Amino acid sequence: MRKIEHIGIAVKDMQAATQIYSALLGYTHYKTEEVPGEGVNTTFFTCGDSKIELLEATNQDSAIAKFIAKKGEGVHHIAFAVDDINAEVQRLEKEGFVVLNREPKIGADNKWVVFLHPKSSNGVLVELCQERN
Ligand code: CO
Repeated sequence: MRKIEHIGIAVKDMQAATQIYSALLGYTHYKTEEVPGEGVNTTFFTCGDSKIELLEATNQDSAIAKFIAKKGEGVHHIAFAVDDINAEVQRLEKEGFVVLNREPKIGADNKWVVFLHPKSSNGVLVELCQERN
């Protein structure tokens, strides 16, 4: 893993959350993007070498809607930047981690993404992400 690429935070109201995180960080977001396949709207803030990703559900079947219904708003996942996502998937499977999608899918912010089940990482949903060329 190269670095923490971003921390994903599940929010109920993107507009309100964007104001809160702009106030917290002292500057505003650099992009918003819908990921229709995941049923989410995203808003990104840079923070040094890392980012904050706010996630809002766009439908009731969205993983974010289910997460908020179960746990409320809050930290949803930690994303690590990797150079070779397929090699990392192989390595992590050997280590016993439960990979949710072995085939990388297209995520927000021009990334290939793979998720690891929280049960294999102490309750934390882990995202691997690799820049798409
Ligand atoms: Co993410």
